Amino acid sequence: MNLHAVRRASTYLMDRPNVLVCVGSGLSAESGIPTFRGSGGMFNDSRIATYTDIETLKKDPQGMLSWYQERRVQLQQVRPNAGHFALARLAATGNYTIATQNVDNLMEVACQTENVHPDIHHVHGLLSDVKCTGCQTVISDLNIDLSTLPSCESCGGQLRPGVILFGEELPHDAMEASTLAAQQADICMVIGTSGLVYPAASLPEIARNHGAKIIEINLELTALSDLCDVIVRGNASMILPVLERVVTDAL
Ligand code: APR
Repeated sequence: MNLHAVRRASTYLMDRPNVLVCVGSGLSAESGIPTFRGSGGMFNDSRIATYTDIETLKKDPQGMLSWYQERRVQLQQVRPNAGHFALARLAATGNYTIATQNVDNLMEVACQTENVHPDIHHVHGLLSDVKCTGCQTVISDLNIDLSTLPSCESCGGQLRPGVILFGEELPHDAMEASTLAAQQADICMVIGTSGLVYPAASLPEIARNHGAKIIEINLELTALSDLCDVIVRGNASMILPVLERVVTDAL
């Protein structure tokens, strides 16, 4: 771990700044939830990549909904890692907003444990939600087994996971709040995302265009690295606890 980069990043976080944290699957990787791209990424299996596209819901509902059901079952077996808990404690040191592309609720669990309550916006939805393709009702219920192709009790429509699929609009409220936070941010932290998927990947650019300093925490260079003022190369679950300790010790 590059301690010099950690110290440089910590200097930006010292005076209780407005911080937008843009989170990707790399933050949950150490909790056992695979990333989408890169080594071990789910998309290395091209069939899986099709399951994140709205068109597949019609072409192969059984394959797609069974895959999402497997991920919903896995969601009940994973726990936040040291990176989630450290980010929650960091959020207590300033005015933090978290815009996450992750569809797990591990950041919420970590914040609850640390008794910290930053705004968390799921710009790609939540895997624990189920949505009706007919009446659009959203139910938060991990007991619904999507692999049985269940239908809506109110209108008989097909139920699907409450996540955003390629080809769909992002949730308006989540993106509007995240964009506002980007415009008001003094600092934007970009953690564990390849920065390849828009419009979520535009948030750090918006923050920079409004004068924010950008800190990236990632195992490798990304599509956003050129925007960054500080790049801390390495594992977020190891870097964030050190960064949080340096910031909180200095307060
Ligand atoms: N610590 C830090 N970074 C990590 C770690 C780790 N332990 N493990 C992986 N990474 C980094 C990888 O280097 C990569 O840059 O996390 C990133 C994961 O990239 P993706 O798999 O593309 O995930 P993400 O950026 O969240 O994908 C965005 O794409 O398919 C859609 O909707 C899906 O929300 C997802 C979106």
